[in-house]
Amino acid sequence: MEASDYVRIFDTTLRDGEQSPGATMNAAEKLEIARALARLGVDIIEAGFPAASPDDLAAVRSVAEQVGRSDRAPVICALARASAHDIDLAWEGVRLAIRPRIHTFIATSELHMRHKLRMSRAEVVERVRKTVRHARNLCDDVEFSAEDAGRSDHEFLWTVVEAAIEAGATTINIPDTVGYTVPDEFGALIAGIISHVPNVDKAILSVHCHDDLGLANANTLAGLRAGARQAEVTINGIGERAGNCALEELVMGLHTRFWLHRLRSGIDTTQLVRTSRLVASVTGIPVPPNKAVVGANAFAHESGIHQDGMIKNAETYEIMSPATVGAGATQLVLGKHSGRHAFAKRLGELGYLLEDAQLDSAFARFKHTAERKKSVTDAELEALIAAELPERADLWSLEALQVGCGTLSLATASVRLRAPDGTTRVAAAVGTGPVDAAYRAIDDLVCRPAQLVDYSVRSVTGGIDALAEVSVRVVSNENATVRPLHPQHDALPESSTWRGHGADTDIVVASVKAYLAALNRMMAAAVAFRAVAAAVAVEEVSSR
Ligand code: KIV
Ligand code: ZN
Repeated sequence: MEASDYVRIFDTTLRDGEQSPGATMNAAEKLEIARALARLGVDIIEAGFPAASPDDLAAVRSVAEQVGRSDRAPVICALARASAHDIDLAWEGVRLAIRPRIHTFIATSELHMRHKLRMSRAEVVERVRKTVRHARNLCDDVEFSAEDAGRSDHEFLWTVVEAAIEAGATTINIPDTVGYTVPDEFGALIAGIISHVPNVDKAILSVHCHDDLGLANANTLAGLRAGARQAEVTINGIGERAGNCALEELVMGLHTRFWLHRLRSGIDTTQLVRTSRLVASVTGIPVPPNKAVVGANAFAHESGIHQDGMIKNAETYEIMSPATVGAGATQLVLGKHSGRHAFAKRLGELGYLLEDAQLDSAFARFKHTAERKKSVTDAELEALIAAELPERADLWSLEALQVGCGTLSLATASVRLRAPDGTTRVAAAVGTGPVDAAYRAIDDLVCRPAQLVDYSVRSVTGGIDALAEVSVRVVSNENATVRPLHPQHDALPESSTWRGHGADTDIVVASVKAYLAALNRMMAAAVAFRAVAAAVAVEEVSSR
């Protein structure tokens, strides 16, 4: 028995979501998404519409047989029109699930009954009784949906809902099929059902809102606040036409404004971004950058005022933390609106500490560049400030690299580096892949305790011959091995991280350049640091 504030999350990405133009998924892809949905913690997975095709039936069956075999198994549901034939096929699809559900529907608006079904009100009510009873004879868990409920006559809808519950429906779903209603209206529709249907307490009320006017999430919230306790949603809001209410938006709305709604779901919010990406890559429907919660810009800040606020306290411009939704870290995007504060912070992260005058002139040049570009990358930033820095010879540089990889043998790398003393050193290593092998060989030569904490690669230009730009971040483990020169200046601060970038048409070469750049920066800082520490020690000895 669920608590009265618990909202069941019914995910229909694999059924209504698949009805998005161009989003067809094969059985293996559906299974992969269903597993991700189970991990996310959805309560019900609508796996498909078995009467649509034999492939659909097979996909539903494979989800029912293979997903959610643990303690907290989600209900696996299949859709059926209000006909014995469809319902039998739906049952065939889900019957092997630990917790199966049959979901049957028929339209209840005058428009649909007259033009699509060509049935009278009395015939529709009779069909509901017959088909829900048939489904209930097969399965204990039966959901009934009144299609186009948002445009149905309220009193007729109450009659249909009462008949469906009498016939054995355990969940009653109220869809705003064409996304026509507004929140007050939709909330009142749900409240009206609760107060006028005598047996409504025998079933869970559900809402299913489409986004034709951009109100799917608002309408879903209104329905839940009026008393519904199941929400039908899809990942990324995909679905027929403008789509459905987006799972991630609804769930984060409940989570972030808990004290307003006092409703909760069982979703593991840290899985949201990961699941969103999976669905986008399987369906080929990209997530717009400005999409709430899971868009690439959902936690990116560009304007100087916002960046300044974020540096002082993240709550100034973030109502939820990126970690809560599994989105990694907040991004301060350097662009034409960025301020000096964010600019200096980013340079610091890259390992550059400029004097005030240097910073002023670098910032002026940055602003000039940013006026002409959408955003300024780290590599461009480094090129921009090169004029402010004294000529610095790299401590270690790449002379030659050879890698071997593939499915037939272990990944190996041989690396030849020029050392700070001008000599040439060679090392070879094996690894999990060519980049890992090359990094291990470099570690053997450089002998610096560092840990790779970030690695990313992006293609600078399009096409197969694209230039790859690799960015890495390493953390110094200096403290573990370097004996302190002075108690107040013991090696590098533990939190020091050093970034490096490398670009090349060969992705492994780009990776090696990036890693060496980060290690060089780390070692240059350590040298400067030791010089300061030694000077302080000398000063102290001579003053005794
Ligand atoms: O939008 C709708 O009405 C539906 C029903 C089948 C639930 O998807
Ligand atoms: Zn729908």
